[in-house]
Amino acid sequence: MATMESLIGLVNRIQRACTVLGDYGGEGMSLWEALPSVAVVGGQSSGKSSVLESVVGRDFLPRGSGIVTRRPLVLQLHKIEGGSDYAEFLHAPKKKFTDFAAVRKEIADETDRITGKSKQISNVPIHLSIYSPNVVNLTLIDLPGLTKVAVEGQPESIVEDIESMVRSYVEKPNCIILAISPANQDIATSDAIKLAREVDSTGERTFGVLTKLDLMDKGTNALDVLEGRSYRLQHPWVGIVNRSQADINKNVDMIAARRKEREYFETSPEYGHLASKMGAEYLAKLLSKHLETVIRQRIPSIIALINKTIDELNAELDRIGRPIAVDSGAQLYTILELCRAFDRVFKEHLD
Ligand code: GDP
Ligand code: NA
Ligand code: MG
Repeated sequence: MATMESLIGLVNRIQRACTVLGDYGGEGMSLWEALPSVAVVGGQSSGKSSVLESVVGRDFLPRGSGIVTRRPLVLQLHKIEGGSDYAEFLHAPKKKFTDFAAVRKEIADETDRITGKSKQISNVPIHLSIYSPNVVNLTLIDLPGLTKVAVEGQPESIVEDIESMVRSYVEKPNCIILAISPANQDIATSDAIKLAREVDSTGERTFGVLTKLDLMDKGTNALDVLEGRSYRLQHPWVGIVNRSQADINKNVDMIAARRKEREYFETSPEYGHLASKMGAEYLAKLLSKHLETVIRQRIPSIIALINKTIDELNAELDRIGRPIAVDSGAQLYTILELCRAFDRVFKEHLD
């Protein structure tokens, strides 16, 4: 539905405008934080990057052993009507990427630019937008994988540093948690579920994702998890079959991988009855729909926050008696305009 999707599109634009505006607004005033987003959380090698790529339908994330994701990646997906896929980074706004291998390289280079190839982590996010006819409007944040031990060359503190970074995202009440757990490990030991349970005990903003269903021991299945008996959440669990390492080595493309995943569920004796509610494409739609519901609930308070920000800005102007930076003022009014557009679309939708 065009109207519904444009709500998320508008929020995406507001968030980008907020990012450009930077820290304006002071403590506890961040509009960015008032807007909902989806954070991808899980242990190392649980399949986070694979799920993200599958949701996008493109191959674009750096891979390798060790801690590959060392800065948060804020990924905004924008659905376009026709045309071919392209990507843009906030730090290089004039450059249009059509080669997704170059996107991967730019993420790796931009990570090193801040962390200095030291394999340290940094809280400073990388902002990437992907425009495609094949995506749903969605903002996803990829975070470093939770880990239990530091690997060679990394400081001992990295285990705690990663956990506190991930926690700083998922503890925000507006954060929707995409908790990734591999099916070939006991769900009771899942890092993602452990953290999600701490910050969202009722499970109302956690989506459980079970990867690696194809790697379970013969004769076992994940129905207890997928049907909500092992660990109950307010939202249904989604099972996923990503590309295996062998598929990646053979360059199986994402479209073929999605097809293979669909076939896996449709022909599965255990999961056949759940087939329409499994897989990355279904997950993308589920998240987009949920994000929209949350946004619709939040929009009055978001607009109130914008207006409060404008009022405080004006008061500050009066007090100091000189104009604020033109860029900040202009950006703020851009946000206000976007919010008003949002308000209009929102009201139209209610009518
Ligand atoms: P991350 O560290 O959480 O980002 O995990 P990755 O997405 O990089 O996946 C780690 C490894 O597990 C890669 O070799 C993937 O190919 C493999 N993998 C991830 N999900 C699945 C899955 O559902 N099935 C299979 N067979 N392999 C998977
Ligand atoms: Na968001
Ligand atoms: Mg990864």
